[in-house]
Amino acid sequence: MSRTVLVLGGYGSAGARIAELLVRETEARVLIGGRQGSRAKLVADRLKRQYGEDRIAGVLVDAADPRLLRKALEPVDLLVVASSTTPLTAAVAEAAVQARVDWFDIQSSTRKLTTLRGVRDAIERNGCCFITDGGLHPGMPGALVRFAAGFIDRPQRVRVAMLFNLDWGALDLPPETTAEFVDELREARMEVYERGEWVKRRSWTTQPIDFGRPFGKRSTVPLWLDEIGSLPTLYPSLQDLSVWVAGFNWFVDYVVLGVGLPGLRLFGDRAGPTVAWLFQWGLRQFSRPPWGSIMLVEAQGWKKGRLVEFRGVVSHRDGYDLTAIPAVAALLQYLDGSIRKPGLWQQALVVEPRRFMADLERLGATVTYDLDVQTGKPVHRAPEAGPEARRPE
Ligand SMILES: NC(=O)c1ccc[n+]([C@@H]2O[C@H](COP(=O)([O-])OP(=O)(O)OC[C@H]3O[C@@H](n4cnc5c(N)ncnc54)[C@H](OP(=O)(O)O)[C@@H]3O)[C@@H](O)[C@H]2O)c1
Repeated sequence: MSRTVLVLGGYGSAGARIAELLVRETEARVLIGGRQGSRAKLVADRLKRQYGEDRIAGVLVDAADPRLLRKALEPVDLLVVASSTTPLTAAVAEAAVQARVDWFDIQSSTRKLTTLRGVRDAIERNGCCFITDGGLHPGMPGALVRFAAGFIDRPQRVRVAMLFNLDWGALDLPPETTAEFVDELREARMEVYERGEWVKRRSWTTQPIDFGRPFGKRSTVPLWLDEIGSLPTLYPSLQDLSVWVAGFNWFVDYVVLGVGLPGLRLFGDRAGPTVAWLFQWGLRQFSRPPWGSIMLVEAQGWKKGRLVEFRGVVSHRDGYDLTAIPAVAALLQYLDGSIRKPGLWQQALVVEPRRFMADLERLGATVTYDLDVQTGKPVHRAPEAGPEARRPE
């Protein structure tokens, strides 16, 4: 049965790519939603022309306007929240539950998770399937850990590392979106799982990690993610588990994050707009090519009495494509019913990891492993698995 999907923020950087992949990869009717009806229609018309399909339309919808939201949800089976509307999560989630519409979001926010967990009973009562923390980050680190652990009987040590180097100057970054980035950084917790327990790391804890060509060795800091928190329970043999993220550029890392974030803690929300403006300015002024996003997983553990290792790398030259690709890889599993069930789930923990990884590659990400994932045997390949490996001619 063909389903109707409304992509809220469907002409934004992430939303437009998700909408396009949904049109390309599924039979779903796709509605592009946002506060500018004309922009929504423009994107819908472009997709109609490009794919010769009539199942696409633009709709005017403001997440802050309950009447417009209710109306927009009437024909919808699934709401994909790709908008910078994290502060409106409670109202949007309530509208979706009331309309018995399923949910998939890509926002990164502890407050959003807390809000959604607060309405978990209503989600279940109304038989809705809510999948949260979709996309790349959050969304992929936990899935990568589950995928890697699948090749090892008793995983002991797993490390995920990520690097995002986007051409920020070419992106439209409205204030709401920048404010969400800053909120995300403000909420960041530096915790790693070491020798069987979660420990806080100081803000100056760094670790050099080799991301392969063209990025090479980069300094990274630890980052706790909700989707990682439950993994030691899932894999009791785990001793060490950590996620590491590379910095943006010297100005953003040392000036904005080094001085601005402590300032936010000191002066509260009053300093928010200044830090958000500086953050955006610093990203645009000081970020340099090569562009690309990369996430890698390294796992170690026991298999049939031997210590084995696994390394996998996922990358793309376009960081927003690499947000849309995992989101749609998860949505493919949702849309064919294989992971659709009433309740609140996180993408990283609900997807079937092998199909998810295969779909990442099929949808356009560069994916390399040092094991043949069919046979479990080592593969000998050059280590450079970075986005340059797929640079167009
Ligand atoms: N998980 C991941 O890997 C990942 C990666 C990147 C981004 N994200 C998250 O995805 C979200 C979007 O990011 P982005 O970079 O794509 O932002 P963006 O390019 O600024 O797009 C934001 C979209 O949201 C729409 N929007 C904003 N307020 C709205 C409202 N009240 N009602 C309806 N639509 C509204 C905007 O359109 P109008 O302003 O015209 O309404 C626009 O289409 C953010 O929450 C970001 O943190 C997640």
